[in-house]
Amino acid sequence: MRSRHAIPVLLALAALAGLFGCKSEQAQQQPATNSTQPTKAATKPAAGGVTLGFLVKQPEEQWFQEEWKYAQEYADKNGINLVKIGVPDGQKVLDAIDNLNSQGAKGFVICTPDVNLGASIMAKAKQYNMKVISVDDQFLAGGKPMTDVPYMGINAREIGRSVGRELYKQFKARGWNTADTAVCAVTYEQLPTAKERTDGSTEALVAAGFPKDKIYKAEEKTTDIPGAIDAANTILTQHPEVKHWLAFSMNDEGVLGAVRAMEGRNFDAKAILAIGIGAGSGITELKKPQVTGFYGTYLINPYRHGYETTEMLYKWVTQGVEPPKNTLTEGEIVTRQTWQDAVKRHGLTIK
Ligand code: GLA
Repeated sequence: MRSRHAIPVLLALAALAGLFGCKSEQAQQQPATNSTQPTKAATKPAAGGVTLGFLVKQPEEQWFQEEWKYAQEYADKNGINLVKIGVPDGQKVLDAIDNLNSQGAKGFVICTPDVNLGASIMAKAKQYNMKVISVDDQFLAGGKPMTDVPYMGINAREIGRSVGRELYKQFKARGWNTADTAVCAVTYEQLPTAKERTDGSTEALVAAGFPKDKIYKAEEKTTDIPGAIDAANTILTQHPEVKHWLAFSMNDEGVLGAVRAMEGRNFDAKAILAIGIGAGSGITELKKPQVTGFYGTYLINPYRHGYETTEMLYKWVTQGVEPPKNTLTEGEIVTRQTWQDAVKRHGLTIK
C-alpha cells in the first residue's frame, strides 16, 4: 500500500512545497523592501531626498560646530541631504546660496557674518525660491530687525543680566571691594545680540550696586579669543591700579580672551572672576584640572539652535508648516562643579 501511493504522494508534497516555497519567497521579498527603506533613510540621506543648507559665520568656533552637529543629527534621522558651509563674509554667503541652488536645495538656516546682509540674502533666496531661517544673529534692515524672517536666538538681555547678577554675587562672596576691583567688559556693539548681552550684564551689576564708572569697555574687533586678548590688553594697560578683575562678554571666547590677557599680566585665578556665555570653549576651560579665573559660563543650547531650526525648515519646505517668527532660548549658569549635570539635563553632549 505504502509503496503503491509513494510516487503520487511525493509529487503532491513536492507541488505543495513548491507552492509554499514560491509564496514564502514573495512574502520575504515584500517586507524586505519595505523594511530596508526606512532604515536606510534613518542612516543616510535617501537618493532624491530633500536638500537643505546650514550656513554659519564662524565654523571654527565650537558653538557653531555644536550647532552643526545637532543639525546633522536631525538631517540623518529624516533622510535630508544637509549641506554645511562656513560663510565668513558677504561674498561667501552669496556664493554659498548659488552653490545650494546648484544642488537643488529648498532652503537654508543661516548665522550671517553681517546682520546688514539680511536684505540681499533674502533677495537671492527669493530668486531661487528658497526658504530661510536665521539663527543666532538676526538680520537687520535699515537698523531694524527683519521680524518677518523666522529667527531663533538666545534671550540675550536676560542672559546678560544673569551673568551680571552672578558676577556680583561671587564678587561679594570673595569679600572684594570696589576700591581696587574693576570690570573688563569685552564688547562687540555692532552686533545687536552681543550688545544686548553685555548691556544686560552691566545693567545687573549696576543695579546690584557696582559702580558704573568701574566697568571698562574693551571693544573687540573680532569675536574670537585673539580679538578679545587685544581688546582686554588695552584696558589692562590703562588701569594698572586694579587688583581684582571681573570679566564678562558676549560669549566664552570674549571672556577667555580677557582671562588670558590678565594671566599674561600675572593676575592669578584668585584675582580674576570671569563668566562666559556659550556651549563649548567655556566647558573646555572648566574641564581643565588647573582652576583658572574663568569661574563659569551661562550654558546656552546648541541642540535647539541646530536640531530644531533644521526641523522647522524641513517641515516648512515639505509640509508648508510656517516656523514661529521669533524663538528665544535660555539656559543656566554652570561652574566646574555643576556643568556635567546641567549638560546632561539639557540633553547635550559637548566635545
Ligand atoms: C552669536 C555669537 C556666538 C554665539 C551665538 C549664540 O552668533 O557670535 O558666539 O554666542 O550668538 O546664539
